[in-house]
Amino acid sequence: MSIDLRSDTVTRPSEAMREAAADAPVGDDVYGEDPSVNELEAAAAERVGTEDALYVPTGTMGNQIAARVHADRGEEVLLDRKSHIYCWELGGLAQLSGIQPRPVDADEAVPTPAQIDEAYVEADLHRAGTGLLALENTHNGRGGVAVPPDRIAAAAEAAHDRGVPVHLDGARLFNACVALDVDPARMVRDVDSVLFCLSKGLGAPVGSILAGDEDFVEEARRVRKLLGGGMRQAGMIAAPGLLALDNVERLAVDHENAAALASGLDALDGVRAADPDTNIVQVFTDDLGVRAETFAEACEARGVLGGHHGPYLTRFCTHLDVTREDVDDAVDLISDVVTELSA
Ligand SMILES: Cc1ncc(COP(=O)(O)O)c(C=O)c1O
Repeated sequence: MSIDLRSDTVTRPSEAMREAAADAPVGDDVYGEDPSVNELEAAAAERVGTEDALYVPTGTMGNQIAARVHADRGEEVLLDRKSHIYCWELGGLAQLSGIQPRPVDADEAVPTPAQIDEAYVEADLHRAGTGLLALENTHNGRGGVAVPPDRIAAAAEAAHDRGVPVHLDGARLFNACVALDVDPARMVRDVDSVLFCLSKGLGAPVGSILAGDEDFVEEARRVRKLLGGGMRQAGMIAAPGLLALDNVERLAVDHENAAALASGLDALDGVRAADPDTNIVQVFTDDLGVRAETFAEACEARGVLGGHHGPYLTRFCTHLDVTREDVDDAVDLISDVVTELSA
């Protein structure tokens, strides 16, 4: 069996989650009558301290709904060049909502107030204007960076000063909260909407939460229906999501495993591994002169799955289904790969 470190999306639901799915009381959620979905939405809103929350099938749909609710057609979304919304959602802003991205290089994962001031566009006869600032925490493309709440607040303030709403793609929000020991409600206090996934490190089989104030969620519910995300007896997939909320504290284990993996790999000749904030380990093989695609293939042949995310950047991700023993084994196996590739 391979050690699967491609992503925390590969986690499988526990027995308890499977039982919760089988036993879930259900109703038609489009009519607002699914008790399990209603319970999950209430628990999720309470967890992040928002007025309301909406269960959505995926993180991608949640982000796209949020952008559409906040921004009008033609308007710009200010975001980081390496953000998930910009890089990995099929140009959904443009395809689905006629919104155009305005990327900036947020080297520290979140645009600075100065970058926001500079990239902001005032609407006039020639320009559609900035309709949204989209942030990401943890920041996947920059290596699972956990952004502290004061930096989120500073960015949000710069946007709000100009009347621009703020959405937080917190697919891994709880990884950031656990890594920085920050209450989730504090982390999202300054943004207007937040998306977080139940299906990644938290281990639910399906589903994400989009949270905000009542007006936002009411409109988000309509857009979810428009995009085909109004589900009927969704309690069967929402019930495991409630149990996923109990898995927040254990994310610290994934972070410890990631740190062990990074230090083990960084000790190998020709390999550099960035010190991870959370559960994502970025490994660079330029000193080895081996491209990431080749490196990832060689790792796979030895039984360790990762992903190539740049010319010389391979990503390994720890999660619920990876033990410390797996991590130690992975380091040994990758050490053999490095020896083989250096020969
Ligand atoms: C930062 C970030 N946002 C959004 C998503 C999208 O989530 P989903 O795969 O549920 O659509 C991902 C998925 O990996 C992600 O890493």
